[in-house]
Amino acid sequence: MPENPQPKSAEKPGASSSPAASAKPNSSDSPEVVNRQRRRLIWTCLWGYLGVNFLMFLRYFFPRALFEPPTIYSAGYPADFSLGIDQRFLQSERCWVVREPGRLFVIFAQCTHLGCTPDWEAAQNIFHCPCHGSEYDSEGVNFAGPAPRPMDRCYVQVDPSGQIVVDTSRRYINDPAAGTNQFNDSGAFIPV
Ligand code: FES
Repeated sequence: MPENPQPKSAEKPGASSSPAASAKPNSSDSPEVVNRQRRRLIWTCLWGYLGVNFLMFLRYFFPRALFEPPTIYSAGYPADFSLGIDQRFLQSERCWVVREPGRLFVIFAQCTHLGCTPDWEAAQNIFHCPCHGSEYDSEGVNFAGPAPRPMDRCYVQVDPSGQIVVDTSRRYINDPAAGTNQFNDSGAFIPV
């Protein structure tokens, strides 16, 4: 007589042994099992919440600050500069050191139109902005193009050792439209 095929395991029909299935409360689970699963879910949510808050707390120790390079630098001794425009700090500090008979000052190399860096054209004795054609004389005073005013000058002083100290964050402006001229203020130049 042919034998009837029998199920190999003792599982009930419709029962599953997968972990996902076992995580869900099953109508056949006892109340104790259901409570345990609920407690586990609550603790998981609680630890997740605390973990996120702890990470946010740690984030305060790493502020999104922009660390800019120092704006103060030593430019050497006045005797290091001869008359005229000196470009040795143009790349590193965006400045020209200008020595004239009786004074030395520092021009911040930024066009007052839209902020490009002008070129020093030694043959013509002018600064020329490549962006829109503004032109400045050898003291950085505009005379052509859309630039509205002369280029700014940086704070400059001589320290106790006799060296020139420049601060590019402190600017002196000459704005004829506003009736402001700070180029002769203390700190805008040093007598030499
Ligand atoms: S930025 Fe220099 S002329 Fe426009």
